[in-house]
Amino acid sequence: RYAVYRAMRELAPVYLVADSPFPIRVLFRYRDVVAVLKSPAFVREARNAGHELPVREETVRIRQLLSTWMLLRDPPDHTRLRGLVSKAFTPRAVAAMEGFIRQTAEALLDRIQRQGQADLLQDFAEPLPVIVITRLLGAPDEDRERFRRWARIIAAYLGAWSPEDVPPQVSAAAVEMAEYMGTLLDRRRREPGDDLISALLAAEQDGQRLSHDEVIGTVVMLLTAGHETTVNLIANGTYALLRHPHELERLRRSPELVPLAVEELLRYDSPVQMTARHCATPVEIGGARWQRGDAVLLMLGSANRDPEAFPDADRLDVGRQPNEHLAFGHGAHYCVGAGLARLEGRVAFTMMLERLRGLRLVREPRYVPNVAFRALESLPVAWES
Ligand code: HEM
Repeated sequence: RYAVYRAMRELAPVYLVADSPFPIRVLFRYRDVVAVLKSPAFVREARNAGHELPVREETVRIRQLLSTWMLLRDPPDHTRLRGLVSKAFTPRAVAAMEGFIRQTAEALLDRIQRQGQADLLQDFAEPLPVIVITRLLGAPDEDRERFRRWARIIAAYLGAWSPEDVPPQVSAAAVEMAEYMGTLLDRRRREPGDDLISALLAAEQDGQRLSHDEVIGTVVMLLTAGHETTVNLIANGTYALLRHPHELERLRRSPELVPLAVEELLRYDSPVQMTARHCATPVEIGGARWQRGDAVLLMLGSANRDPEAFPDADRLDVGRQPNEHLAFGHGAHYCVGAGLARLEGRVAFTMMLERLRGLRLVREPRYVPNVAFRALESLPVAWES
């Protein structure tokens, strides 16, 4: 993947996709990706760029559910949704989770430590973020497996390159999610607690609150999109370290580097590789002229390896500074969960380094085929037990 990105940055940094019904360009360079993410000429919703994308029967339900995701909306709705969610999902609420994140990571490692080997994806990288987001939202612990399944289906849907890649279960899952969340919300309305769902229901700004459907959509967004990516930060990051034993050893000797290492691992093998926008007003960026309705795919994973922005960009350097990577996006849609993801990443890497001595790969893992998300299928490792 990264060799393809390099070739594209050098040969066709603004690549026009052939045979599409309207112009779609793919951007590979850091400066062009940032320019689009900053530019008011580009919007998130296709209809605000003047065209409706064809809607297929089997995606009607999931589109309905996702229609209240701030991630996929433009102002004024984006601004309103983001304002209200930020009132509930505060840095204080995230910081208060640190103790619980540590306890959870300890418990997960306790379970596997004596085995001397495990699939680190399944036994550590996956459960940690799911347990954390479930607790933060105040959703029932026993439903975690279900959240995991939904998150996978949504990731496959959002990362589908063509209609054939859309998972067939997506419509049924959307119905299930909406029903499940509806019941959960009713319960929280009757008995509000010290959790994010109750805070979302109560959040008010300029006399406005989130509608019932907006709370449902937002909870689905935080519960699914919010953990899938963190799983991949931990798993991809561990894999990157295992392939660079020198950097792994450096980090073990200097654990104070962990916060910088988390940023570097986010840059080096970004969980979100790609995002998209539409041009709403004509503009010139990256040497190309953009017309209203043109679409653009922004390769965050390539921008993060651009040598114009990062010296020796293909080198993993756990002490890299500065590191203005785009793994959490840039501009108006900058990741709302970045603080939580960073905290989880720091705790996860610190504990793994402390507890799993002599960590090594048992077998080369494979990546899930998905253009937008970078996810491993498994991570078989061993250590000195
Ligand atoms: C937005 C990445 C964790 C919630 C984004 C965007 C990226 C991203 C790239 C911007 C997308 C765009 O501009 O099109 C990541 C990565 C994570 C992570 C790499 C983990 C390592 C989380 C977590 C949560 C979360 C833990 C919540 C619990 C959101 C939300 C948005 C967002 C709500 C939309 C913000 C907006 O539209 O204003 N994330 N994310 N993310 N992320 Fe994350």
